[in-house]
Amino acid sequence: MPRWTPCKDAIHLAPSLLASDFGRLADSVRSLEGSGTERLHVDVMDGVFVPNFTFGTDTVRALKRITTLPLELHLMIVEPDRHLETFANAGADAITVHYEVCPHLHRTLSAIRALDCRSGAAINPSTPASNLDDILEMCDLALVMTINPGYGGQKLIPRTLLKVAHVRAEIDRQGLDTEIEVDGGVDASNARACVEAGANVLVAGTAVFGHPDGPAAGGQAVLAAGRGAGAGVTDAAVR
Ligand code: DX5
Ligand code: ZN
Repeated sequence: MPRWTPCKDAIHLAPSLLASDFGRLADSVRSLEGSGTERLHVDVMDGVFVPNFTFGTDTVRALKRITTLPLELHLMIVEPDRHLETFANAGADAITVHYEVCPHLHRTLSAIRALDCRSGAAINPSTPASNLDDILEMCDLALVMTINPGYGGQKLIPRTLLKVAHVRAEIDRQGLDTEIEVDGGVDASNARACVEAGANVLVAGTAVFGHPDGPAAGGQAVLAAGRGAGAGVTDAAVR
């Protein structure tokens, strides 16, 4: 059973630790206090599915010791099925896998739920959103990549928001509680456009940890924009 009760209609912030100082992870997590953070987004990369390496199970274990925030793992790795149990045991509360590397995605998502983690499926910008239609009922979370995965600090690809709108329509049509997360280049200038397209979880790395006034201010700015206050939408953000 999924551990988190989905809260429909609420907009959530999931700061991505990828943009934090890896040498001071504990301080980075503490610096989120007051930002409105309800979960941590942990990007796991294997140098194969994406050309970069990041955190592994030891880091997840360490994070679990220093925070009570739920840990949402975004696995950008090939053959994730081989590692689901290891990551669950390390302390994952949610595990998101990529559609592109899961030939039996329904089975993979079932396995994640059986490990008492929330299940997530992610799609790259080049993957049609409709590829998720038939497994949405197995997803607690649908992650629409708004950049090509692998690195933080990239610019949101506007066309991906059309895919968010497709996934939102399909979730509503099927009467599901599945959350929709946008990941990549999300900041205060486009957060509202993401929400208007149908997202309710905003992953933000650079906009949070790179904010000139610190991560708490960065998180608040993204969340306020997403919820309709503050910076708001610019038409350019969706074109
Ligand atoms: C990239 C990761 C993202 C990344 C987002 O592959 O999945 O979570 O950290 O970082 P920003 O917000 O800087 O684009
Ligand atoms: Zn991510």
